[in-house]
Amino acid sequence: MVKFSILIISLIFCFACTNEDNDYVEISENKRLDFPQPDFFPQPVYDLDENPPTEKGFELGKKLFYDGRLSSTGVISCGFCHIQEFSFTHHTHEVSHGVNGALGTRNAQPLVNLAYFNEFSWDGAAPHLDAFSIIPITTDIEMNETVTNVLNKLENNEEYIDLFSEAFENGEVNTRNMFRALSQFMVMMVSADTKYDKVLEGNAVFTEAEAAGKALFDSKCSGCHEGILFTDQSYRNNGLPIDPIYNDIGRKRVTGLETDKYKFKVSSLRNIAVSLPYMHDGRFKTLKEVLDFYDSGVEATDNLDPSLEEEGRLGIPLTETEKQDLIAFLKTLTDDNFLLDQRFSEF
Ligand code: HEC
Ligand code: HEC
Repeated sequence: MVKFSILIISLIFCFACTNEDNDYVEISENKRLDFPQPDFFPQPVYDLDENPPTEKGFELGKKLFYDGRLSSTGVISCGFCHIQEFSFTHHTHEVSHGVNGALGTRNAQPLVNLAYFNEFSWDGAAPHLDAFSIIPITTDIEMNETVTNVLNKLENNEEYIDLFSEAFENGEVNTRNMFRALSQFMVMMVSADTKYDKVLEGNAVFTEAEAAGKALFDSKCSGCHEGILFTDQSYRNNGLPIDPIYNDIGRKRVTGLETDKYKFKVSSLRNIAVSLPYMHDGRFKTLKEVLDFYDSGVEATDNLDPSLEEEGRLGIPLTETEKQDLIAFLKTLTDDNFLLDQRFSEF
């Protein structure tokens, strides 16, 4: 009996202490979700105490993510361009297309491990995940809608009214809550269950080709595709020939600096085998094409990364066998459990 009372008291105490610090409703129907932090990952950049993912917030975020009402035509949802089984990319589309088939200029990015990123989009235009979603909603070639219109649509929908009121303390259907719910859904997308991770944990071994590929990767690629996230999150020019149609100036668009021209965010390579086509404009369809490019297609455009111009040779010399080994290694970065995880899927 005494034990039982202590248990009850500590439960009540615990409940009170967590509820005090946070701006979310911890009532029995809305529990905070456990963030699936892998042991071998860095600490998340996203402040999970400031906007903690909860059951209802996640559910709301997911509903918003897959809802065409966020677009002017009512049919283009976030999930239209970010398809889960392809690591949340727009499979087969070089550049994404949005409302009424309008063509964008960039390849939809994978949505993976976003909780660990400092900045968002190919050029880092969005400094915070909560601030990102306004871009696709309001961009004419994406969802072409206004936030006011979206909120009007949501305010007239019983299901949304209920979800907002359950997910947030003030219960309001407003911009802030909408973006925070989308972030709660997206930050939970942690992918860390690949063969590569299993090898790290000692639960699997690489084949000979994969091991050879890893050694090559460590010596030739990891300077930029660094660490457990496979990106150092910097912006660099990796020597892609200038595209005459888009002539995308990359990071310079954000900073205005000539020294940032043609620099793009170093991509994370997790799930890379399924997130084709590749590069900011989706110009390469296969990993083989990407490696042929690093081997013999690199051009000395403005601000080419110095590491790709060593000893007077452009690019990264690779033999055909080395390319095959690297591809074998890159395929160990596919996380099938993540790509098929029901929690994130539309149906
Ligand atoms: C028409 C296709 C399209 C739609 C619809 C779309 N996106 Fe995207 N998404 C893209 C493209 C293209 C990029 C790369 C943008 C850039 O670099 O300018 C991107 C990038 C992102 C990123 C940045 C990822 C990173 O690693 O930096 C996030 C987050 C994201 N989208 C979330 C969303 C959300 C949430 C929605 C719905 C509100 C949405 N997207 C709707 C095409 C789309
Ligand atoms: C100097 C830094 C640097 C080095 C070295 C480098 N990369 Fe990259 N990589 C980048 C950048 C920056 C991008 C994004 C470029 C863009 O889209 O404009 C990229 C993109 C990629 C992509 C496409 C990612 C996507 O989501 O579309 C793949 C695949 C890739 N690199 C693999 C490799 C491999 C394999 C190596 C080693 C042989 C390598 N990289 C070496 C900087 C580098």
